[in-house]
Formats: sequence, C-alpha cells, structure tokens
Amino acid sequence: MTRRAVPVGIGHYLPERIVPNAEFEQSLDTSDEWIRTRSGIERRHFAAEGETTSHMATHAARAALAHAGIAPGEIDGVIVATSTPDLTFPSVATMVQSDLGMTRGFGFDVQAVCAGFIYALSTANAMIVSGQADRMLIIGAETFSRIMDWSDRSTCVLFGDGAGALVLEAQEGTGENSDRGILSVDLNSDGRYRDMLYVDGGVSTTGSAGKLRMQGNALFRQAIEKLAATAETALGKIGLSGRDVDWIVPHQANIRIIQGTARKLDLPMERVIVTVQDHGNTSAASIPLALSVAVAEGRIKHGDLVLSEAIGGGLAWGAIVLRW
Ligand code: UT7
Repeated sequence: MTRRAVPVGIGHYLPERIVPNAEFEQSLDTSDEWIRTRSGIERRHFAAEGETTSHMATHAARAALAHAGIAPGEIDGVIVATSTPDLTFPSVATMVQSDLGMTRGFGFDVQAVCAGFIYALSTANAMIVSGQADRMLIIGAETFSRIMDWSDRSTCVLFGDGAGALVLEAQEGTGENSDRGILSVDLNSDGRYRDMLYVDGGVSTTGSAGKLRMQGNALFRQAIEKLAATAETALGKIGLSGRDVDWIVPHQANIRIIQGTARKLDLPMERVIVTVQDHGNTSAASIPLALSVAVAEGRIKHGDLVLSEAIGGGLAWGAIVLRW
C-alpha cells in the first residue's frame, strides 16, 4: 500500500469589485484592445479597502472545508502560499487558523510568488506521505492590488486579487498511476533571474512593502520553455506524457503563455482550464482559483489526470501531476 495525498475539497473566494479593462483607459495610455490581445485579460477583481489576504484565504478555506464535509478541527496543518501577507509576521496561515477557530495543528506560509501553490502542494504532499499529517488545508491567496504601481501600464493592468483553497487527505493507494491524489512533483528556481520580476521594497531594505517591477517581455521568453520542460519532467517521473493528461490547470498569467505551453505539450486548448480573462494574474491564487472554478462547473471529475504548472518571481517554477 502507498500513502497518497488525495484532494477531497476545493473552494475559492473573489472580492466583490470587478474592474473591466476599460477602467484603466481613464488614467493610463492603454486600451481594452491592447490588454485583451497581449494578455487575454478582460477583467479582474480587486479587494475592498480593509479586505486582506487572510480574509480572502479564510473565505476560500471555509468553502473548501464545506465541499469536503470536514470540520476545521479535523485539519492537522494549514499552508498558505502568498507574497502579499497581511503583515510581515505572523503568517497568514496562523490568522486563518484563528479565523476558522482551530486550536490545534500547525500553520505556516510559503513564498514562491506565482509558483507558490505548486510549492505549497509539494510541501503538503511530503508531509502527508511521510505521516506527519493526515489532513491539510492548502491555500493560495493574494492581494496584488496593494503592490501595484498605478502609473506603470506594463504591470498594473495584469494582476488581480483572490484566493483558492484545497483540502488534501491521506488515503491508501496501490502505488500505481491509477491512484487518486498527487502522483508527481517537479520544483525549480534560478536566482540569476531575480531582477526579471521583483518588488522594490522589503523589511531588510526599504522597510516598506514596495511595488512590483517586471521585465514582462524577457520573462515571457523564459516562460513557455521552462513550463513545458517542468511539466514534461513531472510527467516523465511517472512514465507519462502530455497525451495522458485530461486537464492542464496552468498558472493564469497570459493566454499566449498558456497556449504556447499547451502546444509544446501537444495538448489541444479544449483540455486547458482558462480563467485569465476573468481573474487576471492572481499569482499564487491563480491555480487553486482555476481548479475550483473547473470543478464547480463539472469539467474536472473524479479520476481525471490533472497537470498544473506555474512560473514567477525568482525565477521559481514547477509542475504537479495529480489524479482528481
Ligand atoms: O505571473 C508571473 C509571471 N509573469 C508573466 O509570465 C508575464 C510574462 N509577460 C507577459 O505576459 C507579456 O510580456 C506582457 C503582457 C507583460 C507584455 O506583452 P508583450 O507582448 O511582451 O509586450 P512588450 O512588453 O514587448 O511591450 C510591447 C509594447 C511596448 O511599446 P513599444 O516599446 O513597442 O512602443 C510597451 O510600452 O506595448 C507597450 N505597452 C502597452 N501598451 C498599451 C506595455 N504595456 C502596455 C499597456 N497598454 N498596458
């Protein structure tokens, strides 16, 4: 028998305020047409004043727990993937624990920017498979609107806020690829590219949160190659290829990156979950948001083989293969 980390519940939360591309035309030299054609984004949600990453994470967690039929007290550990925490510390995960009324278990944050959810899932998988935890809540939650430079048209039109959460539970499998749960992971980072996407402030430098800076075009050129390679590595570790995949749930940064990666993996767009038009780039929240929407729509079903991949600041990138 093989211990597997199996998804048993998923949920998400999006702030109420929806901002269409046209709203940026009033303050910036940009257009709905440019944003749509270059990124695929049509609208995004922005958090209300006073609405924080932990608030959104808690809403998503409640939805995922309800979907799983599991009480907060039955969760052994909470991991939140975020680069936009409420405070420098404590972790968002401990705030979620307290908001959910959890008085046992552990919680901590993972920071791998847009690849954060893949890193968090990989960590949770290792903890569950090794027997350290039986049930875990993994959340991606971001308030990127708080680190935008609203005068920089090349970044501020691309990002959005939101949260998605997944409940993983230890179950016995056979050790074969037909098992439900996480089957394979591949993680990578390369700090030589640290200037390609970063925030120009922080605790030990400016003492402030800073604003996001990105060399979008240079990153674009790295993205498709690295995403296809990590996806192939994760699949290859368990003897599979793109043809075996039922659904790709990619990081939602740019429709052209999503299409280019699917093409390299020889997968038609009919098998790709795309939410970038509605959410924009929500960094670590983008994959659990897309997964939650696809499950709620009945597209991803029990037994489907799902591949997720993401790349972002660091650069940090990775892929995960799981059977839903
Ligand atoms: O999630 C983390 C990972 N992030 C990514 O993966 C993002 C990767 N990069 C991208 O998605 C794309 O590079 C962008 C969407 C950011 C930009 O698309 P692009 O096709 O690479 O455009 P570009 O940066 O090469 O800019 C083309 C032109 C420039 O004008 P010139 O120099 O050709 O005159 C920009 O100044 O578009 C201009 N531009 C804009 N024009 C209207 C840049 N932003 C805007 C804008 N509206 N908002």
